[in-house]
Amino acid sequence: MTVKPVFTEAAPVERPDDLPEAGGFLADALAGLSKPQKELPAQYFYDAAGSDLFEAITTLPEYYPTRTELGILDAAGPEIAALLPARGALVEFGSGSTVKLRRLLRHRPDLSVYVPVDVSAEFLHSEAKALRADMPDLRVEPVAADFTRPFALPGDLADLPKAGFFPGSTIGNFEPAQAAALLARFGRVLGSGAILIVGVDLVKDRTVLERAYDDAAGVTARFNLNLLTRMNRELGADFDAARFRHRAVFNADASRIEMHLVSRAAQSVSLAARSFAFAEGESIHTENSYKYTPEGFRALAAQAGWSPVAIWTDPQALFSVHALRRD
Ligand code: SAH
Ligand code: AVI
Repeated sequence: MTVKPVFTEAAPVERPDDLPEAGGFLADALAGLSKPQKELPAQYFYDAAGSDLFEAITTLPEYYPTRTELGILDAAGPEIAALLPARGALVEFGSGSTVKLRRLLRHRPDLSVYVPVDVSAEFLHSEAKALRADMPDLRVEPVAADFTRPFALPGDLADLPKAGFFPGSTIGNFEPAQAAALLARFGRVLGSGAILIVGVDLVKDRTVLERAYDDAAGVTARFNLNLLTRMNRELGADFDAARFRHRAVFNADASRIEMHLVSRAAQSVSLAARSFAFAEGESIHTENSYKYTPEGFRALAAQAGWSPVAIWTDPQALFSVHALRRD
C-alpha cells in the first residue's frame, strides 16, 4: 500500500504556539550554552545510546514511574481500552519501547493502526519491526519526528477515528506553558472528540524523587553525561565527560526535578569554533521533570482544550494516568 504523507496542520509561516523554535542540534546547543545558566534541550538525550540508557533506567529499583504506570495500565486496562475507538488509529507520542502499548493492546486487539512517533529514529524503527513480527495483523506506521514541530501522519489515516497515547510522564519534561501548547498541538493532530491517555508523575517526597533521578548504580548519571559524548561525536565538540558530574535536585518551588551536568573544575570547551568557559561548580541544566497533582494536571489540560474523562492512580499515589477528551 502506498501511504501519502500529509501535514496534519498547516506548515507554519509563523510560530503557531508557545513551543520553542527548534534550530537543529548545533543551533540549539550553541544557543543553550550561550545563556547565563547554560542549558541543553532534553530531547537530545535520545540518540541510540541514550534510548538504551533510558530503557536501563526504567528497570532500576529507584525509578518507580515505569513499573508503577505499567501496574496502573494492567489494573485499569479494560476501562482504558474501552475508551479507545474500535478499528481506529492510536498515535503514541514519544513511544520509546512498545511495552506499554502492548499492555493496552491485550484489551483492544481490534486496533487497526498504531503510529509510534519518536525523535530517536533508529530505536523507533527497530521497535516497530519487532512489533510487526509479533502482531502481523496490526498496521504499524512509525513516524520519526520531533513532536514539538509540525509532523505528518500517514495521509490515509485522515478518516479513521484516532486516539493519542502519551505515557511515561514525558509531558513533565516540558515547562508548563510548553506542555499546554504541546497538548493543544496533539489535539489538532488527533481531531475533535479524540481521547488522549496521558501518564503523569505525581508530586511526592523529595527523597523518593531525588533517588529516582540519581540511582546507586549510576545509570541516570551515564544517561545525562551521554549528552556530552553525543555533542563530541555529532557536533565535533571537545567535552571531557570525566570533568563533569551528574546532579539531580528537586526544586520544590517549581515542582520539578532538575538534572544538571556540573563542571568539576574551571575549564573551557570548544564547539563550532566557539569557546565556552565553565567555572568550577557551574552547570549545564539538561532536564526538568515536572511533578503534578491530579488537579494541577487537569487544569493544564483544560487550558489546552482537553476535558477530564477519568483518572487512575496506584495505591501509593505515586503516578497517575489521565483520560482526556478533546471538545
Ligand atoms: N513512552 C515511553 C518512553 C518514554 S522516554 C515510556 O513511557 O517508557 C521519552 C521518549 O520520548 C523517548 O523515546 C524520546 O526519544 C522521546 N522524545 C523526547 N522528546 C521528543 C520529541 N521532542 N519528539 C519526539 N520524541 C521525543
Ligand atoms: C522521559 N522522561 C519522562 C524521564 C523522566 O523521568 O523525566 C526521563 C528521565 N530522566 C532521568 N531519568 C529519566
